[in-house]
Amino acid sequence: MDLLKVSDLSKVEVQALLERAARLKDLQRKGVPQSSLLGRVLGLIFEKSSTRTRVSFETAMYQLGGNAIFISGRDSQVGRGEPIRDTARVMARYVDALVVRTFGHDIVEEYAQYSDVPVINGLTDMHHPCQVLSDILTITERRGTLDGLEVAWIGDGNNMANSWIEAAAVLGFNLKLACPAGYLPDAAFLERACAGTSAKIEIVGTVEEAAEGADVLNTDVWASMGQEAESDDRGAAFEKFQINSKVLSGAKKEAMVMHCLPAHRGEEITEEVLEGPNSVIWDQAENRLHMQKAILETLLT
Ligand code: CP
Ligand code: NVA
Repeated sequence: MDLLKVSDLSKVEVQALLERAARLKDLQRKGVPQSSLLGRVLGLIFEKSSTRTRVSFETAMYQLGGNAIFISGRDSQVGRGEPIRDTARVMARYVDALVVRTFGHDIVEEYAQYSDVPVINGLTDMHHPCQVLSDILTITERRGTLDGLEVAWIGDGNNMANSWIEAAAVLGFNLKLACPAGYLPDAAFLERACAGTSAKIEIVGTVEEAAEGADVLNTDVWASMGQEAESDDRGAAFEKFQINSKVLSGAKKEAMVMHCLPAHRGEEITEEVLEGPNSVIWDQAENRLHMQKAILETLLT
């Protein structure tokens, strides 16, 4: 089994991951050593920068008794044009699973097609499933349940927004997205993702409308990796799409403010809110580790 996007999982499978991640977090806190992945090796092929995803996956492997090997596009043959289908077949002869971070989602799909071992999406231009799964863990550990959950997405209709859309559709919580014109999630993707779900997933006109009564306020950078050349244009288009204390005041009093990081203070989020009492951002980052462990155990054992 591969994990390329949230919708590869059923609600029951997500719930099992959440329970296992919470259990593994507890065991880690209590210092109980784990060895479920003894002798197993994870390969990581990253064509974009990473701090959290790389370190949480590598640490997860070590803490479960396994090992990890990281290669970047730059210093592997991938960066020199060796075909994905060749790299995937060769890597699958060495390692027990692969985490791939890359640009087009078709690239990670090609890895999955040609690799005999599980492939995990560590971020593509289209999806960031492992991040959103760990974000859901952060929500459930504070709130207990996803019942009645109202999530707001403020900013770019990007990979993170897409994974939130799929999470809402699979798990059945409500999601309001406020994105600037021209930066909305792809309409065909949205329609496909929402087909048959009981969740209310809607695009709204203003940041205030998205934030109103929300349990969770979520944002991300205005220009994602690979979009650096668009930064100036995006800066102008996204000016009003910021989580600040005024926007936060429209949400529920105990609303959680989330950001997958890295953050650009003063752009998509103010320093005051990022460092304020509603921010759960550091727990969110920590939970990457616990959720990666649950994902790895599920795919490898
Ligand atoms: N949130 C996230 O994926 O962070 P990195 O880019 O540091 O991995
Ligand atoms: N949307 C961001 C997420 C970084 C973790 C990007 O793709 O750069």
